[in-house]
Amino acid sequence: MTGRLAGRVALISGGASGMGAAHARAFAEEGASVVIGDIADEAGARLADELGDRVAYVHLDVTRSEDWDTAVAEATRRFGELNVLVNNAGVLDGGPLGAYTEKQWQQVLSVNLTGPFLGLTAARDALVTARPSSVVNISSAAGIQGVAGMHAYTASKFGVRGLTKSAALELAPHGVRVNSVHPGGILTPMIGAMAGDATVDRDANTLARLGLPEEVTSVVVFLASTESSYCNGGEYVVDGGMTAGSTFG
Ligand SMILES: NC(=O)c1ccc[n+]([C@@H]2O[C@H](COP(=O)([O-])OP(=O)(O)OC[C@H]3O[C@@H](n4cnc5c(N)ncnc54)[C@H](O)[C@@H]3O)[C@@H](O)[C@H]2O)c1
Repeated sequence: MTGRLAGRVALISGGASGMGAAHARAFAEEGASVVIGDIADEAGARLADELGDRVAYVHLDVTRSEDWDTAVAEATRRFGELNVLVNNAGVLDGGPLGAYTEKQWQQVLSVNLTGPFLGLTAARDALVTARPSSVVNISSAAGIQGVAGMHAYTASKFGVRGLTKSAALELAPHGVRVNSVHPGGILTPMIGAMAGDATVDRDANTLARLGLPEEVTSVVVFLASTESSYCNGGEYVVDGGMTAGSTFG
């Protein structure tokens, strides 16, 4: 443990698997107390058990404001305060216009965009009380540029980028910074089934491979810590150069 997050109390949504689990692990290693919130109760509780007394699990469906209230209350009851919120839970699907249904659209928007809004709403007072605080919203490279056939996902991740800025402007005077992180293709359960292995087409990004969860975690730890004390309303791209631009020839 190097203590970069010593004394911090974090709530990480979608922390039971993939990148959220990597964030929870690193946060605990860096000295934070962590509440993992997810709908995957078994995996979440198992991870919290494995990580020890400073990590707790709560059932949190990010589309339900009452679940958010419970999760924030659990963080303050168990660890005394809450000064980091990582809005990480997300879902991915897609389909061409005409086939992609309104129900699919609503579901993705409700988890990926309404979820972070409800999280900010529920945690606001606790974050202000425990200032200096930091909110890290996990958007995507799909929040920087469009992805064909992924209408709701792209719209939700552009929305998270915008929500980050409105919240950053509003909460800065109250000691709460808000930033967004934009991963490219990262090898997690979300993308693993689609990608097959850790190599991708050379055109997809400059590094010609998928990223690892830990390569995003290092940026999230930085933003959660006071090392990033002058970063607010920013966009942190971790995409192997995917959104850097195109090459000719
Ligand atoms: N993997 C990628 O390539 C990639 C790229 C860019 C952005 N992202 C984003 O990173 C975040 C984490 O993705 P991941 O790849 O680790 O995915 P993942 O599928 O491994 O993990 C997502 C977690 O969110 C949880 N979750 C789903 N719906 C939920 C809900 N309603 N309430 C609470 N928890 C819920 C799942 O149970 C799971 O534990 C997501 O926001 C995703 O959109 C992923």
